[in-house]
Amino acid sequence: MALKGMRTSFGIRFKFIFMMALLGFIALVGIGYGAYTFSMQNSMKDADTKAKMMEAYIKAGRAYFMKEQRPLVNALVEADRFYPELQSGFGITRRIMDQVQGEELYGFQFKQASLVPHHPPNMADSFEEKIIKQFQDGKMREQSGIMEKENGEPFYYRSRPIKMAGESCLRCHKNPADAPKDLIELYGTNGFDKKFKSGDIFAAYLVYIPLGPAIEAAKLQATILFGGGASILLIGLLSIYLFLDIRIVKPLMELSSRTQEVSVGRNLEKSLLSGKMKDEVEVLARSIDRLRISLVKMLKRRKND
Ligand code: HEC
Repeated sequence: MALKGMRTSFGIRFKFIFMMALLGFIALVGIGYGAYTFSMQNSMKDADTKAKMMEAYIKAGRAYFMKEQRPLVNALVEADRFYPELQSGFGITRRIMDQVQGEELYGFQFKQASLVPHHPPNMADSFEEKIIKQFQDGKMREQSGIMEKENGEPFYYRSRPIKMAGESCLRCHKNPADAPKDLIELYGTNGFDKKFKSGDIFAAYLVYIPLGPAIEAAKLQATILFGGGASILLIGLLSIYLFLDIRIVKPLMELSSRTQEVSVGRNLEKSLLSGKMKDEVEVLARSIDRLRISLVKMLKRRKND
């Protein structure tokens, strides 16, 4: 009997706590996932803004060089001489950005990736080659998204195509025989392709913004929210369990065993009420106790008859 009673009392608490725990857990997973997604979306927007800022600076620098500086430099430098540090827009951008990513914005990367580069580190890797091919197919005018470098490091990237704008470009990129002698001396003859023609897309600008720290921060935020929420849930469930135990289950069990005693004629004169019975349980106990008193009176009357 006692065992059966135990099982029922365990049942109410267990069912209630289980339901609450399940709902709480679902809510916490939702909150954690939501926080992670939201934080990642923000990081993506943030990375896109950073990439656009880098692009804007590079574009403005290039435009200024082409319009204002290059005509002056070309007029000052002897016709058959070539100083890439002074006369190549791509060369100047590369040198500035090498410094930026080496010192000021460590982890950021900027590349003028080419299928046939003069400067060997500008050689397009397999990811960049794919992007250049997609630009060549003419389906896209710019690209952006998430990618992983070979070492598994995640980056947000933005890319725009570079076109062979005309004869001015072809002179230094098509045939070594047409290029300034200084260029051949400095870079060799590997960075040329005789098949190049005006309008060809053969290279692309690529800006890489590191995402590792943002992903770590998003994960940490989600973990803190989930962990914090789970701790609060646990404390809440424990409080509910104790409350149910002390205020409802135990008094009900006591009332039940006392009522059983009365039903078999034991301790008939003793009140069913105890200090532990409060609120609705107390109301119930009083009702049953009135039943006990009526029963005792009835029994006494019968005895007297
Ligand atoms: C006077 C010669 C010259 C002209 C004209 C020239 N380039 Fe270059 N270009 C170079 C040199 C030299 C480099 C390597 C610079 C460096 O040191 O990074 C280069 C680099 C590049 C790169 C980076 C990949 C690589 O080859 O290392 C691209 C892309 C590029 N040029 C495109 C163009 C385009 C487009 C034009 C026409 C608008 C053009 N170039 C005109 C000499 C020239």
